[in-house]
Amino acid sequence: MIESSRSRTALATSLMRALHSRRDPSPLLDDPWGDRLVPESERDRFGQRILARMDSGARAAALRAPGSILDDFLLTNVAYAGVVIRSRYTEDGLREATNRGTLQYVLIGAGLDSFALRRPSFSRALEIFEIDHPATQAFKIQRIKDCGISLPASVHFVSADLANEDLATALARSSFRRDEPAFFSWLGVAVYLTREANLATLRAVASVGAAGSELVFTYVDQIEFVSGGSRSLGDANAKAVAMMGEPYVSGFDPKEIASDLMHVGLELIEDLDGTKMSERYGRTGANALQPPVCLHIARARVQSDQPVVGRMGRAKRNPSAPRY
Ligand SMILES: C[S@@+](CC[C@H](N)C(=O)[O-])C[C@H]1O[C@@H](n2cnc3c(N)ncnc32)[C@H](O)[C@@H]1O
Repeated sequence: MIESSRSRTALATSLMRALHSRRDPSPLLDDPWGDRLVPESERDRFGQRILARMDSGARAAALRAPGSILDDFLLTNVAYAGVVIRSRYTEDGLREATNRGTLQYVLIGAGLDSFALRRPSFSRALEIFEIDHPATQAFKIQRIKDCGISLPASVHFVSADLANEDLATALARSSFRRDEPAFFSWLGVAVYLTREANLATLRAVASVGAAGSELVFTYVDQIEFVSGGSRSLGDANAKAVAMMGEPYVSGFDPKEIASDLMHVGLELIEDLDGTKMSERYGRTGANALQPPVCLHIARARVQSDQPVVGRMGRAKRNPSAPRY
C-alpha cells in the first residue's frame, strides 16, 4: 500500500460487496453501504483507470455503456467471489460467538467494511474496534461524516500501521478488554504484509484475546508466490494488482497453517480453500461464486488449557495456560 494514501483495494472490496447485494440473484449479504462509502469521484477515477488499461476495441465497446464499466470490472475480478464469501463466513462466525456471550469485535485492516453501519440485530451489544492503516481509516471516518452519519460510542477507531506497530500496542490505546473474549476478523490483509508481520499479528491476537476468543482470516496459498502466481490467480491477479498498485507479498502453506498457528498460541478450527468456500456458499447456487482454489479462509481459537468462567459467565484465560 502507498504509505500516504487510502487503500484502493479497500475501496474495491467495498464496491464488490455492494454490487453483490444489488446484482446477484441470491445475495449472501445486504450491504448498500458498500456503495455509499466510496465517493463518486473515486468511482470515476476507477473507471478512468480501467479504461486506460483497455485496448482500443474494448475501450470503444465499454464506452457504449459507460455506466457499467466499473461494475463489469468488479464482477469479473478474480477477487470478487472471495470478498463476498469471506464477509458472510465471518459474520456467521461472529453471530455464533455473540450467542456464546462475546461482546467485542475487532476488525484488523477494516478498510471500508460497513459492519458498524449495518449493525445486524445480533450485534447490538457489541463493542466494535476498527484497526486500519491511518490513511485508509482517516478516509473512512471523513466519508462517514460526509454521509451525515454519526456512529455510536461503541464503535472505536484505532489507527495503526501494522507493518511497523504491533496489534497489541495499537489495541492498548483503546478500551479493548483483554480479560473478555473477542472475535477478530482479518480479511484481505495478510497477503499485503510480510510473513514476519503476519506472524506478529497472529501472536498478538493470541496474546490479547482471552480464552474463547476467535479469529477469522484470509490467506493465499504460498505456492502462488513460489510459482509466480500462475497456478490459479494467474494473469488476472497480476492485472488486478497492477490496477490497485498493491502487490501481494506473502502467503502461508495450507499444510503448515495448523502448526504455524499453534506456535503462536492459536488452534485451527477450520480452513476452507476456494473450492470448499464455493461448495458451502455459492458454486451450485444462483450466485455461482467460485473463488480461486488458492484463496483460503481460516478460523482459529485462542488456545487455553482450562478456560475458567469470568465476569458475566463468559470464558476467561486460565493464567497458567502455556503461551507460545
Ligand atoms: C483489501 S483491503 C481489505 C479491507 C477489509 N478487511 C475488507 O475485507 O474489505 C486491505 C486492508 O488492509 C489494510 N492494510 C494494508 N496494509 C496495512 C498495514 N501495514 N497496516 C494496517 N492496515 C493495513 C488496508 O488499509 C486495507 O484496509
